[in-house]
Amino acid sequence: MSGETITPARPTATSGVLLVLAHPALERSRANRALAKAAKTQSGVTFHDLYETYPDFAIDIEREQAALLAHDVIALQFPLYWYSTPALLKEWLDLVWLHGFAYGIDGNALAGKRLFVACTTGGGAKAYHAHGYNRFSMDDFLRPLEQTAYLCGMVWETPFVVHGAAVKTDEALKAEADRYRARVASLLAPADAELGA
Ligand SMILES: Cc1cc2nc3c(=O)[nH]c(=O)nc-3n(C[C@H](O)[C@H](O)[C@H](O)COP(=O)(O)O)c2cc1C
Repeated sequence: MSGETITPARPTATSGVLLVLAHPALERSRANRALAKAAKTQSGVTFHDLYETYPDFAIDIEREQAALLAHDVIALQFPLYWYSTPALLKEWLDLVWLHGFAYGIDGNALAGKRLFVACTTGGGAKAYHAHGYNRFSMDDFLRPLEQTAYLCGMVWETPFVVHGAAVKTDEALKAEADRYRARVASLLAPADAELGA
């Protein structure tokens, strides 16, 4: 990869989870709205709704890089669209995670941070299997993000996935939202504590 070189100024202190939500029609969402509602009010979580902030896709690169620098954990939450991220999340990665900032010889701004993905799917869990109709696992579909974390020297956290989101009952969705809140809370603990060190 190649591109623009930016020398990032590292802040002296970083903290918390930057929760980046990418849903192009949150008013019609059930799953991501419920998940975001459960997680975003926790202390230590900075909630960032990409489509609300940039409805015109005019991303403020410096502001986004500053937000990345200021947090220990970068969480990306989105509905799976065509086995990938919604368009604005991809644009955000393309424009913000630049050579010299996120990767490259001097690009170490994200090194040591943790990357956490929370994703909802329309397809059920059985579809995401070698013998299911989507033929590949979620781990397979999320591989580009996992490799992005690796390239940037980040720690890849086990993703949080809600399958069959559209057909979940309100009760089931509430249970997923509780599970999500607990998972995000666990990310607020130092990484060493998670490993029992
Ligand atoms: C443009 C588009 C593409 C989609 N692609 C997929 C897909 O590749 N795999 C899948 O399981 N569901 C797919 N879905 C279904 C969404 O993932 C599902 O509706 C969403 O996760 C539900 O979350 P929400 O209630 O927050 O919208 C797609 C939906 C749309 C609108």
